[in-house]
Amino acid sequence: MTADGLSAVDLVLRGRVFWFEDDPEIQGDAALRYFEDGALLLRQGRIVAAGEARELMRDLASGVAIRDHRPHLISPGFIDPHLHFPQTQVIASYGAKLLDWLNRYTFIEEQKFADPAHCAANAQFFFDELLRQGVTTAAAFGSVHQASAEAFFAESARRNTRMIAGKVMMDRNAPAALLDTPQRGYDESKALIARWHGKGRQLYAISPRFALTSTPAQLEAAGALWREFPTCLMQTHISENLAEIAAVEALYPECADYTAVYEKYGVLGDGALMGHCLHLSEREKQRFSEMGAVAVFCPTSNLFLGSGLFDLMSLRDPTRAVRVAIASDIGGGTSYSMLQTLAEGYKVLQLQDQKLPPLRAFHAATRGNAHALGLAGVVGAFTPGAEADAIVLDSSATPAMRHRMARARSLAEELFILQTMGDDRAIVETYIMGRASKPRPIGGDPN
Ligand code: GUN
Ligand code: ZN
Repeated sequence: MTADGLSAVDLVLRGRVFWFEDDPEIQGDAALRYFEDGALLLRQGRIVAAGEARELMRDLASGVAIRDHRPHLISPGFIDPHLHFPQTQVIASYGAKLLDWLNRYTFIEEQKFADPAHCAANAQFFFDELLRQGVTTAAAFGSVHQASAEAFFAESARRNTRMIAGKVMMDRNAPAALLDTPQRGYDESKALIARWHGKGRQLYAISPRFALTSTPAQLEAAGALWREFPTCLMQTHISENLAEIAAVEALYPECADYTAVYEKYGVLGDGALMGHCLHLSEREKQRFSEMGAVAVFCPTSNLFLGSGLFDLMSLRDPTRAVRVAIASDIGGGTSYSMLQTLAEGYKVLQLQDQKLPPLRAFHAATRGNAHALGLAGVVGAFTPGAEADAIVLDSSATPAMRHRMARARSLAEELFILQTMGDDRAIVETYIMGRASKPRPIGGDPN
């Protein structure tokens, strides 16, 4: 560290700092950086250095602002790589599996996003809630309406959050009010890309909802758009529910399977975010691996909608490893909390005699998801130059957690308690590029 670097520091966050420099699945515990008396040095919202407090703070210029969060943990902000902006009032809709749930609840609610005022109110609630939960980056689906993505990005820009979103493209098998056309979906997506992609911290995701609600012409348009704008992300759903898979196979009889549909139209590709992936065949996993597509595990949603169990071990088979990420899938998913998402992920894997150890879980929710979104080195770890999105975690946030913590003997055990028992109450503060941003009063009703 040069004296110059230190004199430019404008904020210090002090606490029990940890992050991952590597993937613990590969490097084991060596992937973890943990400083019991740690500090993050920031300049203009970016990480200058992270490490031992005494060492880093020794040569600091006097008068630098210090936020002391000891004895709490400081982690990179959580990253949620799959959720739905227009489904905040769909969560907890009773008694249906995927296709009925879409028709009975979701497609009704999403029609309200034709109204820009409703979009704007929902965006306020949505960002308040994400920041309350320590989620600093997310990849969100909008509704079919251009206004939904517009409101999302406007609110994100206002809060200076690193966010990814797109209006969904859907041109069949839904109420008429929710349908675009291949041309309109293409044109509106392109207009949103021009307005928002790469503007500040905003990034666009081309978002064909899924093969059931897009015609071949629309999937073709989505693939063409990605070729035209390869720095955009691509997000969709695949292989979530058996009735869905049968319906897709009937609509695309010329394709070998569901994955082949997306391959044919250029939707499956490097970094494509493919929600669910519960019932993929061996051939499909092979193609995911070859293409570098990401299988997004949405445990609370998969349990709530009774869709199936994500087979992590099979997807991570080293002979053809598939990239994976973990997400809430609000509002099929039932919790905005990435801690609760990890807790349910652990249980889904337990049912299959598989494991989600705490270091891998926290890596997944931070650096792992950042990698899946193509944001390695940007967010998800306290690497010099990275954007300083950080959260402060209280492992004793509730009486039951405090009681359990009295028996904790290691950081891994503490993280497992957080992962199993934690929720928004464990999030003490959320920093967005160094600015304390956790909303204090509970967010208002969007209506
Ligand atoms: N498949 C297509 N649309 C959706 C959606 O909104 N939620 C979930 N869970 N699956 C989908
Ligand atoms: Zn989804």
